[in-house]
Amino acid sequence: MNVFLNGSIMPHHEALIPVTDRGFLFADGVYEVVRIYGGRTAFFAEHMARLRRGLAELRIDPSAADGVEAIAGALIADNGLADQDGIVYAQVTRGAPPNRSHAFPPDTPPTVYTVAQPHPRPSNERFDAGVAATLVQDTRWKRRDIKSIALLPNVLANQEAHDRGAFEALFVEDGHVLEGSRSNLFAVHGGALLTHPLTSEILPGITRAAVVRVARESGMEVREAPIPLELLDAVSELFLTGTTTEVMPVVRVDGRAVGGGVPGPVAGALQEAYLRYALNPGHETDR
Ligand code: PDD
Repeated sequence: MNVFLNGSIMPHHEALIPVTDRGFLFADGVYEVVRIYGGRTAFFAEHMARLRRGLAELRIDPSAADGVEAIAGALIADNGLADQDGIVYAQVTRGAPPNRSHAFPPDTPPTVYTVAQPHPRPSNERFDAGVAATLVQDTRWKRRDIKSIALLPNVLANQEAHDRGAFEALFVEDGHVLEGSRSNLFAVHGGALLTHPLTSEILPGITRAAVVRVARESGMEVREAPIPLELLDAVSELFLTGTTTEVMPVVRVDGRAVGGGVPGPVAGALQEAYLRYALNPGHETDR
């Protein structure tokens, strides 16, 4: 498998970074995961816009993201993904200065890493049966709108979900359910969609935005408001959205059935509409 590191495409085993890289020492960087469907990427421009915004927030030169889309195209071809499902992973860190010091290092170019690799879509059985989720206390930092590589709370939460036989962990804070460890969360309540607003408490998901758009286009009401924990017992549907998760129905939370305990019609319809939208290469020009 070939990867891109700091200006060159090379075999992955040759792609080495210095131990002083600030991604390694401080988790000082941001990343993106972009879907590849049958060799074609979905929502690349949106992912790059979020990457550039994150870089700017961290005061890393956003031009580090320049060229990532072209590089991804080359890697998709190189790595035999021209008609495959996969992901592009792109990561930028504050670079590798000679010494470890907390303050930004002078004259240090960012480290830019990109790979395109196979990644199957979730199975049809998963969409048909729905998945279980588990609630965890949110221990993350206060800037969850930045797609930081500092993912330890997400990793621990996701492992807790796995340990309990669940697919996803849902972060709870101040009596509200915010999002998953690697996905956003929607509820269907009173016929309308409900999802946490775009604040610093959650990641502004690219899939979330696409689902809000296709839902509104289909005439559904979408309310962007916090989801109270107690509401989970009253909602008719709950579903996750994410680049690798797509629109995934949640049928149990900590062992309690959601809605009828089976996937509902809204999640099913939105999954179809989302996939159509993601696969339509013209979507960027018809806004
Ligand atoms: N995760 N919330 C969190 C905390 C996430 O990590 C992700 C994505 C999402 C969904 O965002 P999007 O729709 O842009 O993929 C929401 C990626 C896929 C990951 O870490 O692998």
